[in-house]
Amino acid sequence: MEKIDNFERSCYGGEVTKELLGKEVTLFGWVQRRRDHGGLVFIDLRDRSGVVQLVFNPEDNEALHKVAHDLRNEFVIGITGVVSERPEGTVNTELNSGEIEVNATAIKVLSKSAVPPFLIEDETDAGEDLRLKHRYLDLRRAPLQRNLILRHKVCQSTREFLTGGGYIEVETPVLTKSTPEGARDFLVPSRLNSGHFFALPQSPQLFKQILMISGLDRYFQIVKCFRDEDLRADRQPEFTQIDIEMSFVTPEKVIGEMERLMASIFKEAMGVEITLPIKQLSYAEAVSRFGLDAPDTRFALELQDMTNIVKDTGFKVFADIAKKGGLVKALNAKGCATFSRKDIDGLTELGATYGGKGLAWVKMTWEDKDGGWQSPIAKFFTDEEKKAIEKELDAEAGDLLLFSADKASVANTVLGRIRLELGKRLKLIPEEGFSFVWIVDWPMFEYDETDKRFYAMHHPFTAPRTEDIDNLEKDPGSVHTNAYDLVLNGEEIGGGSVRIHDPELQKRVFRALGIDEEEARAKFGFLLDALSFGTPPHGGIAFGLDRILAIMTKSESIRDVIAFPKTQKAVCPLSEAPSGVDNSQMEELFLRVIKKPG
Ligand code: AMO
Ligand code: AMP
Repeated sequence: MEKIDNFERSCYGGEVTKELLGKEVTLFGWVQRRRDHGGLVFIDLRDRSGVVQLVFNPEDNEALHKVAHDLRNEFVIGITGVVSERPEGTVNTELNSGEIEVNATAIKVLSKSAVPPFLIEDETDAGEDLRLKHRYLDLRRAPLQRNLILRHKVCQSTREFLTGGGYIEVETPVLTKSTPEGARDFLVPSRLNSGHFFALPQSPQLFKQILMISGLDRYFQIVKCFRDEDLRADRQPEFTQIDIEMSFVTPEKVIGEMERLMASIFKEAMGVEITLPIKQLSYAEAVSRFGLDAPDTRFALELQDMTNIVKDTGFKVFADIAKKGGLVKALNAKGCATFSRKDIDGLTELGATYGGKGLAWVKMTWEDKDGGWQSPIAKFFTDEEKKAIEKELDAEAGDLLLFSADKASVANTVLGRIRLELGKRLKLIPEEGFSFVWIVDWPMFEYDETDKRFYAMHHPFTAPRTEDIDNLEKDPGSVHTNAYDLVLNGEEIGGGSVRIHDPELQKRVFRALGIDEEEARAKFGFLLDALSFGTPPHGGIAFGLDRILAIMTKSESIRDVIAFPKTQKAVCPLSEAPSGVDNSQMEELFLRVIKKPG
């Protein structure tokens, strides 16, 4: 009992193996399961290393057996016992400790537990809200513990690689000013400066650039970022970036060093070899072939441009779009002529959520009629046009051809999303493996039809390519940047660029974005000032740590790799944040809540 009282743990339970046969061990952990077997009591003792089986025999010690008999799930106990071989036929090959059991000689109940609202098992069918409310119990489950341990390893190997490369870890403020990364800010009212607000950083972008101006040369930080945006499986309101910036670099240097960082992380944390260099696709090629700027390159099913072939066809939808400068894109779903009307309607609806106004389809049959085309639009096409389409799409009997006609952005996105859906449905995506691709050569701006203005595709601090600078005012849409995104298995896991280091050029870019001088001063005056005091050319990148981990662990959501995540509704069921505050606190801040209408 002395060893238990003094917490003299010999090792974790999951680490007890045959090497310790005959030895005495002292272990601590939680009761995973108790089984009463005609006298013998078996306890599965769990700690973060796994599970070990304890045996209590009434013939050895009746008092001890009685304590074991009264144990319940999730009680915390300390035990001392002797390691022995499991009887033949009871070996559990799934456990590290599966060949042994521990015959208890002493036990102490250190803590009792209420009946848990769900069983602590690897696979659970408990709802996510319930699990998040009792996250301490959820986190006792082995898969989540493994995720947190992997997260730790990824952070460790990141720090090791970057420290070795001369990067300095610097903390940047959390109470700060808005950084435009395209999302809404979380605001924090200032008590000492009433009517004024801090913004939580969407990223440390401006501070890391200022650190370059300070001469730090190479910076990194594993840092929380905050974005008030609509949540999805791969987005959280607070998430973690591996944020990096360096001076005197070309885009090639950043890309080269950062892919070595990725390879090192995958090797150190998972033992996976990444082949370098990682292939690169231009933004234009990615969008044209895969429909999306974060293409899943693990499978083909590429989009084809049919605009030229159908520009004079009798099907007015296609011809009109082609004449208006839009695109008619198509993909060949091989062997999918068996899809039902309902299947196709489902794909059409999916397309509609991305702005698609319809989804034309052709089932290729073995029949002679209409050249084998079974389709509501077959009648509009001449035999030559049909042949040309078939040739371009490599179509044969049994295939399903799908078409989206629209302005380029919509036609590509619609078919890009349908491609992903088909990839899943047709099981074209391999279960194992990591497919990296850099997306390079980005347009600087994106025109928003509704707001009738340009927005930055990355952020306003991204440098235009030198040869495009003259077009900033004349033709902003044609300007490209040296930005690069890293995509893994169809998810954007990082993005960065070479930055503007000339204050005059920065002002021109603000102007191109419709930010006038006054607004630029008010929002970014401190950056413009800093830029004017000798700024080294610099660039960098930020990786989404949570997304990388979600892909590594094949998690459906980044919530599974975050210890205390928020729900899709951006609340924390565990702490019940966000919550109302006392009137006195509001008065101190000179704030009042206006009731939400409706
Ligand atoms: P960006 O906005 O592309 O770049 O962010 C970098 C990476 O962070 C991840 N990420 C997110 N992960 C989870 N939840 C979110 N809400 C979320 N938003 C972004 C993505 C993304 O690739 N300052 C620039 C970087 C730079 O230019 O150096 C930036 O923040 O994986
Ligand atoms: P309609 O002539 O509008 O009945 O359309 C005939 C077929 O063309 C239907 O299968 C529609 O889904 C499809 N369609 C309509 N608009 C488009 C579009 N913009 N792109 C692709 N197919 C379309």
